[in-house]
Amino acid sequence: MTAPMTRNVDGVRYVRLCNVLDLPQADGKAFDIDDLHTVAVFRLPEGLFVVSNVCPHKRMSVICNGMLSGTTVQCPMHGWRFDLRSGANMAGQAPLRVYRHVQDGDWVWVEWPDDERPAWADAL
Ligand code: FES
Repeated sequence: MTAPMTRNVDGVRYVRLCNVLDLPQADGKAFDIDDLHTVAVFRLPEGLFVVSNVCPHKRMSVICNGMLSGTTVQCPMHGWRFDLRSGANMAGQAPLRVYRHVQDGDWVWVEWPDDERPAWADAL
């Protein structure tokens, strides 16, 4: 397995994720960054949005399959709704993580999740 391609932009480490032309329009697609972090990328008329694919409700990797309404995505499992721009939960519950990203030509780069191992992963 080859190491992922990374780069630094303004002190933030990014990993090359995908070619924007491989993304479905007005829909989501999931990508694994590493063993613990899966993101959902949405290519919408409003822009490109990258959020965690893991719903904070039951920790299910399903956000990429959510129903879209503008820049809001609704989890297909129990209906929690999130603003893709901020990750805010529309009902005020746990938010969805938003990942910084940059686009360079057709390539999409996403911030490398240098954070601590997620608390939920300790239960695995
Ligand atoms: S798993 Fe997403 S709302 Fe329950």
